[in-house]
Amino acid sequence: DTQYLSDWRPYPYEILETRLEFRLDPRATIVRSQIDFRRLAPEDLVLDGAGLKTLSLSIDGQAVSPSLIPQTDGKLIIPAAQLPDSFTLEAEVQIDPEANTALEGLYLSGGMFCTQCEAEGFRHITWYPDRPDVMAPFRVTVHSDQPVLLSNGNPVSSQPGQAVWHDPWPKPAYLFALVAGDLRAISDRFTTMSGRDVALNVWVRPGDEPRAGYAMESLIRSMKWDEEAYGREYDLDVFNIVAVDDFNMGAMENKGLNIFNSKLVLATAETATDGDYERIEGVIGHEYFHNWTGNRITCRDWFQLCLKEGLTVFRDQQFTSDMRSASVKRIHDVQTLRARQFREDAGPLAHPPRPDHYQEINNFYTATVYEKGAEVIGMLKRLVGDEGYRKALDLYFDRHDGQACTIEDWITVFQDATGRDLTQFKRWYTDAGTPRLSLTEEWSDGKLVLNFRQHTAPTPGQPDKPARVIPIALGLIGPNGDEVLPTTVLEMTETAQSFSFDGLGARPVVSLLRGFSAPVTVAREMTADEQALLLAHDTDACARWQAGHDLALDGLIARAQGQEGGAEFIRAIAGLLDDAESDPAFAALCLVLPGEEEIATTMAAAGVTPDPDAINRARTALMLELATAHQTALARLYDAMESKGPYVPDAEGAAHRSLRLACLAYLSRLDGGDRAEALFASATNMTERQGALEQLIAAGRDKDALARFEAEFRQNRLVMDKWFMVQPLRAAAGQAVARARELAARPDFDWKNPNRFRALIAGLTSNHAGFHAADGSGYDFLADWLMKLDPVNPQTTARMCSAFETISRYDAGRQAKARAALQRIAAMPGLSRNTSEMVTRILAGA
Ligand code: ARG
Ligand code: ZN
Repeated sequence: DTQYLSDWRPYPYEILETRLEFRLDPRATIVRSQIDFRRLAPEDLVLDGAGLKTLSLSIDGQAVSPSLIPQTDGKLIIPAAQLPDSFTLEAEVQIDPEANTALEGLYLSGGMFCTQCEAEGFRHITWYPDRPDVMAPFRVTVHSDQPVLLSNGNPVSSQPGQAVWHDPWPKPAYLFALVAGDLRAISDRFTTMSGRDVALNVWVRPGDEPRAGYAMESLIRSMKWDEEAYGREYDLDVFNIVAVDDFNMGAMENKGLNIFNSKLVLATAETATDGDYERIEGVIGHEYFHNWTGNRITCRDWFQLCLKEGLTVFRDQQFTSDMRSASVKRIHDVQTLRARQFREDAGPLAHPPRPDHYQEINNFYTATVYEKGAEVIGMLKRLVGDEGYRKALDLYFDRHDGQACTIEDWITVFQDATGRDLTQFKRWYTDAGTPRLSLTEEWSDGKLVLNFRQHTAPTPGQPDKPARVIPIALGLIGPNGDEVLPTTVLEMTETAQSFSFDGLGARPVVSLLRGFSAPVTVAREMTADEQALLLAHDTDACARWQAGHDLALDGLIARAQGQEGGAEFIRAIAGLLDDAESDPAFAALCLVLPGEEEIATTMAAAGVTPDPDAINRARTALMLELATAHQTALARLYDAMESKGPYVPDAEGAAHRSLRLACLAYLSRLDGGDRAEALFASATNMTERQGALEQLIAAGRDKDALARFEAEFRQNRLVMDKWFMVQPLRAAAGQAVARARELAARPDFDWKNPNRFRALIAGLTSNHAGFHAADGSGYDFLADWLMKLDPVNPQTTARMCSAFETISRYDAGRQAKARAALQRIAAMPGLSRNTSEMVTRILAGA
């Protein structure tokens, strides 16, 4: 049963207050609800419920006929004729948190009660209009012998066995949360810009307190930043964050009570990498920023998900650039977007940032909704300017505070604030697919003409793609490396459009798509010399990195097709290595060769069938050649980047470590892993230990190191997840599936824990040549595990189906094997709606 955007109708009742009372019990929790409704339109009252055992249900004290109440799942419909204008609906239901392995609604994680209600989890707790446009203040009473009892809003009273919470800010049910467990807090305070004193707590298991400090610091930085950058202030007396071990996603922005996957809270130098620290800071910020973009202003329906997610990702990206290095952050974001979102947009799962239909909304928490949703806002900001953006956002908060909104509301705010017509721009929200921007140049007498064309290939359900507004930021670099034109933004609105620049002395090289000004792919002819010129001299970090990256990519693709390639990249990188110490993070980014997946994607986009083994060999060979050519410089840099002094998880320290590890990856091809072994033994931080371990696995010299790592971290789930992940990821292609099988057979492969499951399975699917083994063993392994997990946890199963989204680009043999694996899943009796939708879409498009 498909849901359509065009079917949305306003809810015919409003809720004045929702009162909930929980008697927590692992197997039989009782939820009593009292909901004060007021009629807005003479229509039936429709409530959602799933897995509920209804003990009683009444309206103003009058029992509702049992014949109206579905046994467990479905819609409870009370005819309008039976309802007064205002009434209180009272229900008592029984639920079973311990049986809730799907981790949706109220469930247990390591003996602690917690909830996840976005998107439609609240219906697993009680009968309710479980849709985001029905908002209400909540009063919650929790009865339990657990020592810490938390819910949304401000604490009203608390005594052993009972706590009362009140959230005065009207919210939809998906923002409801409850936590009860044996927890310890690290606490701090924050005074908002208008003087409100807020108590801050990060709640963790006893013993984990020393690992929660960075999360707390990140929260304080987030609160300060949102005041300074957006004028947004916190609005309750307390802000609680709780870390839980079993969680389907990263984290959740429940009002005043954010719940986090523990991997995004807990960190020490010995157990977390630089990447982990950066993600913790970014996600703490993300969830906090949702308080305004998501909670105070929420979504009218789930088709509008990118209204809150795209904007909040955009805001967390800005936050991270301000806290760390803006150019490094931008290049990282471009890398993720291209690796994950471009891949999604090019395959059977392509959908617009605002989809107009779905079967299971949880399948739409995607790179397109999140990351492309953020890119679209970046384009808007570029088009209207910083000041226009600020005006539009002020108007958005002003006009829509307390409302459940749409993308139309968002666009209108920008039109009203800036006077710009954004009708055509809106296509970025409604059309799927990545536009391909091609450029040809004409040069004569100091005049450069740039002829652009845009084309977007059809995507499922959208055969025709009209032209979009594409902001093209570019500069011109003269033949001697001087910038002859600083960054200029061209606005492309037609299918084909030309722009000219005259009065130029000598023919310059175009530095295109500076700052990655639009999420498009680029097709243009460039010589290796021109790419090398940009890599050496471009003033824009993104375009400069891109030039080197493309140079390497061209060489790798040539090699993967049996030709020569890569020599120009090896030559061009010499200058970069000489100068690497001036910007170690940038040098590291340039040194890391394009991944095998990206090589395959690029080949497929050019109409070539990628051979995973040939790609793997090409990349391995180029690494060895580069290492041999630059051995001295790499070894010198490796030594120069050695950590001095205590570990600090900041941008500068991370930059040094990233360059050191980039050098190590090359040097390990020559020294057989000697340096990696020494680093593994001596490093005191997880960044270098994990980096060294990965090289030892790649070098086939991992036995001792893996054993030591395991002995040391056996008790630490999060660190052991890394151990499970890096082995299938870094194993030689021919051994990856076997390694994954061995690991999956271990008693500590606790596959019901989403982090552990993802670590092992995504470790394998991220090993391009390993997963796409020609005998289909990777596909079968994945299918077997998805079929095992689906009855337990449909959400996590469905998400991981996307490993199959690229199958149609490979040869007929691989395609047939992947399709057979998918068909096996599709044929499984009782397959969840989540997984069924994913498999059907992939098979339809493959
Ligand atoms: N709103 C959360 C975030 O992005 C994600 C929750 C997604 N949960 C889900 N079950 N799909 O911060
Ligand atoms: Zn979010």
